[in-house]
Amino acid sequence: MSDYFWYEGIPFPAFGFEKEILEDIGDKFVVRDEDTIILTYPKSGTNWLIEIVCLIKSKGNQKWIQSVPLWERSPWVESQIGYSILINQEGPRLITSHLPFHLFPKSFFSSKAKMIYVIRNPRDVLVSGYFFFHKTNLVKNPGSLIEYFEWFLKGNVVYGSWFEHTRAWLSMRERDNFLLLSYEDLKQDTRGTIEKICDFLGKKLEKDELDLVLKYSSFQVMKENKMSNFSILPEVMIPNSLKLMRKGTTGDWKNHFTVAQAEAFDKVFQEKMIGFPPELFPWQ
Ligand code: A3P
Repeated sequence: MSDYFWYEGIPFPAFGFEKEILEDIGDKFVVRDEDTIILTYPKSGTNWLIEIVCLIKSKGNQKWIQSVPLWERSPWVESQIGYSILINQEGPRLITSHLPFHLFPKSFFSSKAKMIYVIRNPRDVLVSGYFFFHKTNLVKNPGSLIEYFEWFLKGNVVYGSWFEHTRAWLSMRERDNFLLLSYEDLKQDTRGTIEKICDFLGKKLEKDELDLVLKYSSFQVMKENKMSNFSILPEVMIPNSLKLMRKGTTGDWKNHFTVAQAEAFDKVFQEKMIGFPPELFPWQ
């Protein structure tokens, strides 16, 4: 079992991250106006959104998504591999990140780069995270959902507290270069949400191109795509038995939380997210 790599009080995965890079990211990494950034708290639908944005860029052509690993198409800026790809990449870049607001490249905040931030019911994020992280060798493994539940509420999980992450990034929601989406909206109205992303990115797709984006980013097709389903990652990081594409549903937390856990979660949510309009959280 691995522990975390800690930076500025935030737990990061045990492999693939280093202090010098995280320092450089905050101060020296230059976000360019033409970049597109996908920002999420882990287990919120990050990889789904990456697949969608890649397909929008290729107008529904599946060649790119089926020949290049997802983490090379839209590298995680905070990881060693992602950072080295991005600093050497010319032209408009697709950048992924799970970084909390205060650790993200400062250059972004004065740039015109577009950011898409996806939120998901944190109860489902918790359950999805538990089933993923209790098997990886990337982070401290929880022994049980009960244990992970406690860690999650305290923010003692990879990338820190969901509540802090979300509160801070939501402060950007009125900006023109920030698109707020939810996993729930993506599930409920996939086509409409993809159209919203196209508008935001200034991409006009024909109906048949949009149909292809929908088809190739669907749960079933992504599940089979080796370049997107994590199956080609080294066994030492992600065991073969571990599936990124687990259920892909909303509300799975109801199958796992006890009544007492559901109540405890509600209480923390109300306390921590006070001041935000409830309509921001479509699962409520
Ligand atoms: P579950 O574990 O609830 O199934 P991330 O990419 O941020 O790690 O999020 C992973 C979650 O997104 C997993 O949720 C996964 O199944 C879901 N997901 C990934 N691709 C999806 C798709 N095409 N459609 C719906 N859900 C998807």
